[in-house]
Amino acid sequence: MGLAAAAILTATVAAAQNLDAGKPPAKLFADGCATCHRSPRGLAKGRFSLALSWFLKDHYATSSDSAKVLAAYLEAADEPPPGAAAKPAKKPARSALRPPKPAQSQQPPASR
Ligand code: HEC
Repeated sequence: MGLAAAAILTATVAAAQNLDAGKPPAKLFADGCATCHRSPRGLAKGRFSLALSWFLKDHYATSSDSAKVLAAYLEAADEPPPGAAAKPAKKPARSALRPPKPAQSQQPPASR
């Protein structure tokens, strides 16, 4: 009895979640989160995905399915590069990356 009721309930909930369930996490994020969080990076902060999906369910009324999917998405997006420091290094200016080539005086100037 209880099992059947649970099965029906689960089926109903699953059907209700189908709207969200078909979307890829990137779309979920773009639709529901990007207004306030410009990028998925830096949101997971190394949390366990379970804690993360709890947070998402708690704060954002997403279904548990999309919360899980989103949590995994945030985690993947948040993965720091190996050996990276806690703070991301400042991007060096372009000129620092590419020092100007020394002038080659031997070559004649290109004709126009
Ligand atoms: C209406 C604006 C708004 C939307 C929409 C929104 N968030 Fe947030 N979110 C916030 C604010 C403000 C905070 C910081 C306050 C807090 O931690 O409760 C936050 C915090 C978070 C945190 C915790 C980050 C931390 O520093 O601890 C996560 C994870 C997160 N949001 C994920 C999401 C996801 C995923 C979505 C889409 C389902 C979403 N947010 C949609 C405003 C928003």
